[in-house]
Amino acid sequence: MGTIDVLFFLIFFLFPIIFASEECQISMCDNKSIPIRFPFQLEGQNLQNCGYPGFDLTCNSQNLTVLKLPFSGEFFVRQISYITQEILLYDPFKCLPRRLLSFNLSGSPFVSAFYQNFTFLMCPSSLTKSRYTSIDCLSNSTHSALATSSMSLATSMSASCEVISTLQVPVSRPVRYDEGFSSALNNDLHLTWYEPDCSICEAQGGLCGFKSNISQDIGCFYFPGKDGSNDGLKLFRIICFSIAVPAITCAVGIACFACFVDRTNHLNARRSTTAVAAAPEGPEPAIVMMGLDETTIESYQKLVLGESRRLPGPNDITCPICLSEYCSKETLRCIPDCKHCFHAECIDEWLRLNGTCPVCRNNPSPSPARVSLDSV
Ligand SMILES: *[C@@H]1O[C@H](CO)[C@@H](O)[C@H](O)[C@H]1NC(C)=O
Ligand SMILES: *[C@@H]1O[C@H](CO)[C@@H](O)[C@H](O)[C@H]1NC(C)=O
Ligand SMILES: *[C@@H]1O[C@H](CO)[C@@H](O)[C@H](O)[C@H]1NC(C)=O
Ligand SMILES: *[C@@H]1O[C@H](CO)[C@@H](O)[C@H](O)[C@H]1NC(C)=O
Ligand SMILES: *[C@@H]1O[C@H](CO)[C@@H](O)[C@H](O)[C@H]1NC(C)=O
Ligand SMILES: *[C@@H]1O[C@H](CO)[C@@H](O)[C@H](O)[C@H]1NC(C)=O
Ligand SMILES: [Zn+2]
Ligand SMILES: [Zn+2]
Repeated sequence: MGTIDVLFFLIFFLFPIIFASEECQISMCDNKSIPIRFPFQLEGQNLQNCGYPGFDLTCNSQNLTVLKLPFSGEFFVRQISYITQEILLYDPFKCLPRRLLSFNLSGSPFVSAFYQNFTFLMCPSSLTKSRYTSIDCLSNSTHSALATSSMSLATSMSASCEVISTLQVPVSRPVRYDEGFSSALNNDLHLTWYEPDCSICEAQGGLCGFKSNISQDIGCFYFPGKDGSNDGLKLFRIICFSIAVPAITCAVGIACFACFVDRTNHLNARRSTTAVAAAPEGPEPAIVMMGLDETTIESYQKLVLGESRRLPGPNDITCPICLSEYCSKETLRCIPDCKHCFHAECIDEWLRLNGTCPVCRNNPSPSPARVSLDSV
């Protein structure tokens, strides 16, 4: 084992960065909730320098994950996609439209990919009952609350209704006018962040973090799996590989990332151009092409969602990769050890590039790296 020791010495000597933020662990509010890691961190762990400013989360007494926005108060976190850098939020009191009436993202790192002007109206119930989808949580016994993105509709309604407000509302995608009175406002709030940009690092199976506790420079780290035995070798190969062909590595990484984005087809155009354009100055990829082979991927359990859309294990109703809600009859695939599930097409694409679970980053099988690295 002498060579391994020398190897580790060299690695420590040359690449102290790789281990720099190892004490930054993945935390959670409880077993079933979302993993919290860089740039997010649980409040109270600030000393470890594991989170980016503005990304503090807390756990409430029900073990739910809470994000507090400086000017808009607390939201519960449904899901975080570290790959697409999106966060899904919902209102604790199940009335997102009420929150949107005084929504302000100032002072937070989050933005919405799209905004749309909505007019909120209070109309006599008799007028609206059968014709429009009203916002129940803002309505009372005599008046229905409505919101529309159509200026002409709002104008024509304003004769009989009271206009509460016209304002820019963050939406996950632009709503077409003919969708009329929008129930889209009842969905989760989709927000994104551009700084720090870890999407490429994440898409390659790395973990982002500060390079040291005194600077704000971001690095991309690879942590060996928990299975121990061949970690040194694996790490060494990865390092050699990325040193020997950094240019190819980078190009391949970006190409793969672009494919991944294309295939899953869930990122909006603005995000993917930002990510690719930002690549040259983004975190250096420390590891690439660690994917599983098709046989291994196919050996993982697949399931087709039934009408009830009930998922096994610690899974929410949204896919952690693309953040879309699962629909009944969609095919999911679950990773054996941790039981995290995803759209089959999302996770298959991921596993071809990365040997770890995108949520908890555990290695699903003993030595996924061997096949693809040997064949390089
Ligand atoms: C939560 O995780 C701990 C440790 O991993 C485990 O002992 C416990 O049974 C889990 N609880 C649930 C409800 O899954
Ligand atoms: C929250 O988590 C703790 C420890 O994981 C557990 O003991 C407690 O029952 C949980 N509370 C709720 C409301 O689920
Ligand atoms: C949001 O809040 C900030 C700080 O109070 C304020 O300057 C800004 O005008 C507000 N933006 C909107 C759209 O209300
Ligand atoms: C939305 O309203 C704001 C003013 O509140 C205006 O500046 C902006 O141009 C409007 N956007 C659209 C798409 O109508
Ligand atoms: C219902 O809301 C309307 C418009 O805000 C208000 O004028 C009316 O007094 C409310 N009615 C009740 C019963 O609260
Ligand atoms: C940074 O980390 C080093 C070693 O890990 C430690 O000695 C030092 O106190 C830390 N500095 C700060 C400001 O936390
Ligand atoms: Zn998906
Ligand atoms: Zn997992």
